[in-house]
Amino acid sequence: MADLMEIMMSPPPADPVILDVPAPAHVPKDLVRDLRAYQGLKPNTLDDPYLPSDRLRDADIPPVMWSPFPATWITSGMWVVTSYKDCAKVYQDTEHFISGGSADFQKLIGETFRCLPLSYDDKLHLAYRRFLNPFFSQKAVGEMDGYIRQLCDDMIDPFLAGNGGDFAHDFARVFPVKVFLTLMGFPHTMLDQFLAWEDRILHSRDFDIMRGALTEVIAYLRKIMTDREAVPQDDLLSKILHGEIDGRPLTDEEKMGAVFLLWLGGLDTVASTLGKMFRHLALDHPLQARLREHPELIPGAVEEFLRTQPLVFSMRQLRKDLTLHGIEMKAGDWIQALSSQGNFDPEAFKCPRDFDPERKANRHFTLASGPHLCLGAHLARQELRIALEHWLRRVPTFSLASEADREVYPGLHATKTMQIAW
Ligand code: HEM
Repeated sequence: MADLMEIMMSPPPADPVILDVPAPAHVPKDLVRDLRAYQGLKPNTLDDPYLPSDRLRDADIPPVMWSPFPATWITSGMWVVTSYKDCAKVYQDTEHFISGGSADFQKLIGETFRCLPLSYDDKLHLAYRRFLNPFFSQKAVGEMDGYIRQLCDDMIDPFLAGNGGDFAHDFARVFPVKVFLTLMGFPHTMLDQFLAWEDRILHSRDFDIMRGALTEVIAYLRKIMTDREAVPQDDLLSKILHGEIDGRPLTDEEKMGAVFLLWLGGLDTVASTLGKMFRHLALDHPLQARLREHPELIPGAVEEFLRTQPLVFSMRQLRKDLTLHGIEMKAGDWIQALSSQGNFDPEAFKCPRDFDPERKANRHFTLASGPHLCLGAHLARQELRIALEHWLRRVPTFSLASEADREVYPGLHATKTMQIAW
């Protein structure tokens, strides 16, 4: 039997090969596969980094498989589903699937609070969403429109002065995080430190490094929450700390759970989407020309960028046994909805590899689906729309600079550096 650690350290194979590694007794051996290349864990330099995922649609590939990766602190393996229909079931069928707390990284250091609302289900989840939704409604985030536009323009100016620059490092990495810091009321001086902590937690895949970063960030958040509770300001942090759920104040654990999850979700998701979006545009001049000529297509284009560049492939836990495609799954098993497959399923999207800003009923999974639909969806869309509008209005046709690093992950990893020029 192969050693799991050894496989983990090796580069993922391009094919979903069968792995002879430990798996629960009820998992058929031929379904245990190396799917790392399809789970966003392997970078490539392709114009469309998601293209390799078409392989999972071939007739010899089972519709449901078992992946020993990513190995996390909660499980050493999970089912993986690949069709649009099965992804929708995982996201929406709350009779069989619960959230399970897959983002509760803080458990690694013995913290007992749960990410709120993500780690909750049913009525409690609904109560928490009712509390948080108004802060992220279209109207609420619309009030930040002027600020976001001004920030975007200010950040484009140096690129205009230099006829280009490092889009990933100097724009995508910073722009959404500044918006998030302003919304929450976190000091802008924490930007680099926040991103460094987040990188260690989400991308190091080393439990010791993760523990160190978690200890530091949670201590920081506790301190700023105590200070802000004593002296409230006009920001979301103060509103959460002084908020009420069903007529009672939030407990300390609930406050921490909400602030920590927003911190985790608000930092590099939009940055990663922006990097991939502008990489696509830099490689596709006809699309740039079309959107410059028809800015009314920009909202539809944002939706297509989201569909064709999914980042987060959600995990759920089975609350009861289930048979899917003849495969018996057990209560307690974990399962992953591979959005990078669902979003390109020809059963759900006509010509799924075509980028079509006029696509109708674009119900992709990039911002999830069902009860845990992304809370920050309006904010994310607004930032992406504004970035597109302002860049295309102010900057001439741009390309990747000859020295640009072309490597990109078909997943959450944000591109670290991307020189563009015109
Ligand atoms: C393009 C950017 C974004 C993407 C692709 C994205 C994606 C997602 C996905 C896939 C989920 C479901 C997670 C799961 O089921 O395990 C989710 C949930 C969530 N997101 Fe986002 N997100 C983005 C931006 C944001 C922003 C900017 C914020 C906050 C400022 C945010 C806050 C949240 C929260 C709080 C949840 C949990 C919702 C719940 O459990 O009801 N997200 N997001």
